[in-house]
Amino acid sequence: MTEIDERWIDVGYLNDIPRRGARCVKVPGYTVALFRTDDDQVFALEDKCPHKGGPLSQGIVHDGCVTCPLHNFVISLRTGEAQGADSGQAVSIPVRMEGTLISIDIGVKAVRAA
Ligand code: FES
Repeated sequence: MTEIDERWIDVGYLNDIPRRGARCVKVPGYTVALFRTDDDQVFALEDKCPHKGGPLSQGIVHDGCVTCPLHNFVISLRTGEAQGADSGQAVSIPVRMEGTLISIDIGVKAVRAA
């Protein structure tokens, strides 16, 4: 990916996301789920489970993963990869923090879709 493909946008502050929870942000063409772990790390995935499109933002955040609310796939927050015997990958979106301000790179989705 070249620098020109990056499109960073500010999407809010750390305290906008509940600990071990998620918040959705709509960007052109898709919805991003922002997750906050219990040690205040923030990750972003497309809000679409790689299994059958379930809303990952409504899943349970635990151990660096989110469990999909529909059929319990466990998805890594860092990579978007399904864990264990399941396979598939949610789109992982880069996150940048400046203090508590969260930015995401929405150019990634466009690059992957091309
Ligand atoms: S849609 Fe997520 S586990 Fe089936």
